[in-house]
Amino acid sequence: MTLAARLPSAAPMSVLDERFMRRAIALGARHLGQTWPNPSVGALIVRHDRDGPMILAEGITQAGGRPHAERIALEAAGEGARGATLYVSLEPCSHHGKTPPCVDAILAAGIARLVTALDDPDPRVRGRGHERLRQHGVEVVTGVLADEARRAHRGHLLRTTQGRPAVMLKLARTADGHAARLSGPRLLITGERSNARTHLMRAHADAIMVGVGTVLSDDPLLTVRLPGLESRSPLRVILDSRLRTPVTAKVIATAHATPTWIVTAADAPAQAGEVLADAGAQILRVEAPGGRVDVAAALRMLAGRGVTRVFSEGGPRLGEVMMAQDLVDEFALATSAAALGEPGVPALGPRIAAALQERFKRVGEEQLGPDRLELYERMG
Ligand SMILES: NC(=O)c1ccc[n+]([C@@H]2O[C@H](COP(=O)([O-])OP(=O)(O)OC[C@H]3O[C@@H](n4cnc5c(N)ncnc54)[C@H](OP(=O)(O)O)[C@@H]3O)[C@@H](O)[C@H]2O)c1
Repeated sequence: MTLAARLPSAAPMSVLDERFMRRAIALGARHLGQTWPNPSVGALIVRHDRDGPMILAEGITQAGGRPHAERIALEAAGEGARGATLYVSLEPCSHHGKTPPCVDAILAAGIARLVTALDDPDPRVRGRGHERLRQHGVEVVTGVLADEARRAHRGHLLRTTQGRPAVMLKLARTADGHAARLSGPRLLITGERSNARTHLMRAHADAIMVGVGTVLSDDPLLTVRLPGLESRSPLRVILDSRLRTPVTAKVIATAHATPTWIVTAADAPAQAGEVLADAGAQILRVEAPGGRVDVAAALRMLAGRGVTRVFSEGGPRLGEVMMAQDLVDEFALATSAAALGEPGVPALGPRIAAALQERFKRVGEEQLGPDRLELYERMG
């Protein structure tokens, strides 16, 4: 991918660095949900000369986690990379994994200056990438747009430092605050535009997670059904302590095309597990104190299998437990213009309501047709 664009040369270097880093972070964001267990990184190679800076090449971590963004950009820039600046949203790797370290490729390409947003806390890297490049005479600038990069790489950072994925909780509510009817048919709360936005959020997650209550009452498909993005349906995860998921459920019937993992208690009925496994689901057993799957243990297990970003879409009961255990990093709340007009299941239980007041700040709001989407992030 090459993009030749001259930009004004008058701006000081720190301003240009921020500008190019913003672009690198935006590039990386495009492949979120596709690169796990690796982070989705963005890279840019820029030549600064008398006529101003020129972007020579761009790169994004590819599906499955490799090639890394730096390699894609270096290959596209070819000889042009000699003496140029490389912008990367995360420290380049310095260890031999399935591919040789990016640091070697950067040195071989003759990059003169490296600008990054963050040290990679992965114990195999942790500053060593920056250090090796400095030792070989590359000018290294770190910490540019670090807060933005921390948000973009939250899944990788949490998985590496805390052993759990980043979690976005999403709930929809009627204008009078309900997530569901007390009983009876499924309540369709939001409209087309809001639903399309939800599908986009799904596409940027590694896994969609729901409690078995949502499967039993709604029988959702939990896939991405946006034109052109159908192949980006993430893994589906159901928390189901007693293996009540019906073998006829859509998430099971489609499990061969879109993987479905059922997280259950260690002592959940073996026969039900066999039936669901034969139908294509993967059964994973974790601790279940009091007979109910421990969500924190489930998230640790997912991180252990490489999952970095979870989109939790249901339902209000699971959301309440996750908020109570402080396992939610981002919260998306969709509110429709129409009211239910009868008693229903509240979308915001007491723990979610309290957390929003105490620990979360609102970072965005979008009007999606008749629906309003509010986005919150955990503070600190
Ligand atoms: N408005 C919305 O955004 C939205 C989203 C999703 C669903 N819904 C609606 O909500 C209703 C279903 O609500 P729900 O709250 O029962 O669904 P849910 O949260 O998806 O499922 C709850 C079930 O998950 C299982 N579970 C496993 N581990 C758990 C844990 N640690 N903590 C809590 N639950 C755990 C429990 O069953 P076991 O004990 O058997 O494991 C529990 O009964 C439906 O009417 C659906 O239409 C609304």
